[in-house]
Amino acid sequence: MIEVKDIHTYYGLSHILFGVSLQVNKEEIVCILGRNGAGKTTTMRSIMGLTPPRQGSIIFKGEDITRMPVYKIARLRMGFVPDNRRIFPDLTVGENLEIASKGNSQGDGWDKERVYRLFPALKAIDSRKGGFCSGGEQQMLSIARALMGNPEFLLLDEPTEGLAPLVVRELMEQIGRLREEGLSILMAEQNVKSALKLADRVYVIDRGQIRFQGSVTELEDNEEIRKKYLLV
Ligand SMILES: Nc1ncnc2c1ncn2[C@@H]1O[C@H](COP(=O)(O)OP(=O)(O)O)[C@@H](O)[C@H]1O
Ligand SMILES: [Mg+2]
Repeated sequence: MIEVKDIHTYYGLSHILFGVSLQVNKEEIVCILGRNGAGKTTTMRSIMGLTPPRQGSIIFKGEDITRMPVYKIARLRMGFVPDNRRIFPDLTVGENLEIASKGNSQGDGWDKERVYRLFPALKAIDSRKGGFCSGGEQQMLSIARALMGNPEFLLLDEPTEGLAPLVVRELMEQIGRLREEGLSILMAEQNVKSALKLADRVYVIDRGQIRFQGSVTELEDNEEIRKKYLLV
């Protein structure tokens, strides 16, 4: 699905990513784990074209997207759910979804009904204003909104941040269902425990470099890596 090869990304003069390489295969959920400031968001912004890398390459579905503008990357069916849940507080849940609709689905795409089948909890609050939704509901809504763009590949930046444990569990189940719907996902997390329940594979990033890659079991067995980079 996506292959990131040896990318170097900067904010102005600050060199942030130092040769990051990673891969997400079709219908995989891959987690990128790391402490605050490790480079998770920058990796996602690099992939989405928001902060393009200066060196290295990003291949999406066989196409080089390294220097492609964001709107073109989005058109190739990549979606990004940023960590700050940019929903519209004055619009209802239903309206938030409707304005995100591309209106060009030919049967196989996502529309409000299909999103509500996946997230029944959102259907129940269809007419509630975004600003009156709980943190968990807002996170669900921002993922649902990204689905309206019919992504095949979704970047989820710390979806469980600030949510209560019970809500986290619910959200993780829903993210798992996206995989069953055929999506491939790259998810950034600090919340190691819940991420590991869901992930097919894991990368650990620290100071802009990948320090570990492997299966969930391999990470669980590697105490040194967890202690050094993850505080667990
Ligand atoms: N807009 C920016 N300008 C300059 N430095 C930034 C900017 N955003 C993030 N950084 C720095 O880049 C590093 C990685 O940040 P980030 O990718 O947001 O980490 P994470 O998402 O893992 O918490 C941090 O040192 C952070 O201070
Ligand atoms: Mg971040």
